[in-house]
Amino acid sequence: MKKTQFARLAFEQTTNYVLQEASLWSGRCFCKPTSINIDITSRCNCRCMQCDIWKKDVDSELTTEQYKEIFSKLRKWMGKFNLTIGGGEPFMRKDLVELIAFASKNGILTNVLTNGILINEKIVSHLEQSGLNRIAISLDGFTPETNDLTRGIKGAFEKTLKAVDLLSGMKSGPLVTVSTIIMKTNLNDLVEMAKWVDIKGINGILFQPLNANFAAEYKHDWYNTNELWIDNYNDVCRVLDELIEMKRRGTRIINSIKQLEDMKAYFKNPNAPTEKRKCKVGMQNFCITPNGDVQLCYQMNAIGNVVRDTPINVWNSEKAKQLRKIIKFCKRPCSILNCNYSGGFREKAAKFASYIVKLK
Ligand SMILES: C[S@@+](CC[C@H](N)C(=O)[O-])C[C@H]1O[C@@H](n2cnc3c(N)ncnc32)[C@H](O)[C@@H]1O
Ligand code: SF4
Ligand code: SF4
Repeated sequence: MKKTQFARLAFEQTTNYVLQEASLWSGRCFCKPTSINIDITSRCNCRCMQCDIWKKDVDSELTTEQYKEIFSKLRKWMGKFNLTIGGGEPFMRKDLVELIAFASKNGILTNVLTNGILINEKIVSHLEQSGLNRIAISLDGFTPETNDLTRGIKGAFEKTLKAVDLLSGMKSGPLVTVSTIIMKTNLNDLVEMAKWVDIKGINGILFQPLNANFAAEYKHDWYNTNELWIDNYNDVCRVLDELIEMKRRGTRIINSIKQLEDMKAYFKNPNAPTEKRKCKVGMQNFCITPNGDVQLCYQMNAIGNVVRDTPINVWNSEKAKQLRKIIKFCKRPCSILNCNYSGGFREKAAKFASYIVKLK
């Protein structure tokens, strides 16, 4: 990316950040979203203990052409922007690389979230040509036992590691990062994983605190019955402190120190009321589900549909306005998650830069 383009993008993002803060303060939306996600499918090849998405009945999915049209509509409204493609498992869609290439050609920065299992030499060679900016591979343990136990399928660990090798071996490919949930089964692996990321020359590791199962009905006290929840607070603090220290020494941990510190409070009591945890998703998230519906919060009703309407109309709709009022007072703890965590200006700037500048 040329310096002038980078400066322009940075200026736009800073202006939007100021507008986002003003919107949060006043309750009236003057800004555009900064976190645009497409769950491109609900289908998945894994059977994770911590996620119920794979249990969903698969509704009909949008076609390749419908997605291209959505990308064009978003581009027209947003200018240059970051698009995160997740799911389900995005590589279950055979047209994924074609869609990434279309987005890149149209000036959209793309980021894919994947379990990596379906990635092979052929896909990697196509990805190299596609213009993909970043690929985040989830790995939930550092041994076949700890990883495959929660992923629910045998051999997942070897396949994900092979994908990491193939992707990080690309000469002109995307940034490659690893995403890891912090939970009981892998707590003792996390420090080793962060060291491995450095040794291997991977672009970074992003930790995600365990939340209530995705796509399951939300229960206020979910963690009391969740077998993956870490109930020994001292253990989780010891590991988080070590990760914070490693981050200070330059290990490529993507989370900010502030977020890692916030995670300690979360693991102590996820439901403890805290001013700091005011959820900002109403002014920052634009999440498109596999049928084109748009959600501000993945646990709340849709505010519109981008197949039938334009993104700007959906963002400014009456339903969106009503939902923002509810979100303002939401006391659930999931604003700590990476997809919702907002932090301050420094966090936002670092996140933005991580799409564009290699951490190497
Ligand atoms: C829903 S998955 C979709 C993309 C892809 N299938 C994958 O696993 O990377 C996106 C991210 O959510 C994380 N995740 C799933 N269930 C979670 C939970 N209960 N708490 C926190 N993160 C979770 C996954 O580990 C993954 O990094
Ligand atoms: S976390 Fe990802 S890989 Fe696991 S079931 Fe959910 S969507 Fe599939
Ligand atoms: S805290 Fe935010 S992300 Fe979580 S349920 Fe409430 S509005 Fe949604």
